[in-house]
Amino acid sequence: MDTLEAIHNRRSIRQYKETPVPDELLNKVLEAARWAPSWANSQYTRYVVVKDPATKEKLAETLNRGNPSAEAIKHAPIVIVACAELKKAGYYKGIVSTDRGDWFMFDVGIAMENLALAAHAAGLGTVHVGFIPDSRKVDEILGLPEGVVSVEMTPLGYQAAEAKAPPRKELAEIVFYEKYGKH
Ligand SMILES: Cc1cc2nc3c(=O)[nH]c(=O)nc-3n(C[C@H](O)[C@H](O)[C@H](O)COP(=O)(O)O)c2cc1C
Repeated sequence: MDTLEAIHNRRSIRQYKETPVPDELLNKVLEAARWAPSWANSQYTRYVVVKDPATKEKLAETLNRGNPSAEAIKHAPIVIVACAELKKAGYYKGIVSTDRGDWFMFDVGIAMENLALAAHAAGLGTVHVGFIPDSRKVDEILGLPEGVVSVEMTPLGYQAAEAKAPPRKELAEIVFYEKYGKH
């Protein structure tokens, strides 16, 4: 699939079939995440692949009831939780290098969008689920060690219903030239 086509047509998928995902496709999307750029190529994003229904149920319980992806976390055949080792991205020789602090959210975000695009190209659905009020509950469920935190989770599976594209702002609203606010 053409890259721009994948970027345009990928959607957040919130309804899934129970059909299992072959390991070959799972590995393909994880490979796409592996090849994401990262701070100084430090590669401190980690992925926990969850298939156990009881664990998926627990993960879904960490979301607010109103989260439109809670059912998908429960019922999709696979959930991937993206985690990061802290104090690596944005650091040089153990010292924070920029006034933006820890860049782990940035590295995880890039990697997970790679994963989402690869999944779309492979005929699979995903949705970035980041609205997790207390992510320490996720850390506990998955047994994350000290210094590693969960960032987001996504269901992975075959979509059960069409998803409509929410509108995007026009370029004129979000792009400036030379100075902020200048068109
Ligand atoms: C960082 C981040 C967190 C998100 N968290 C959630 C979430 O908790 N639940 C959910 O249903 N969708 C979540 N989304 C999906 C967005 O709502 C979705 O990407 C947006 O509405 C655009 O729709 P599209 O992905 O179909 O283009 C999240 C997206 C991002 C990038």
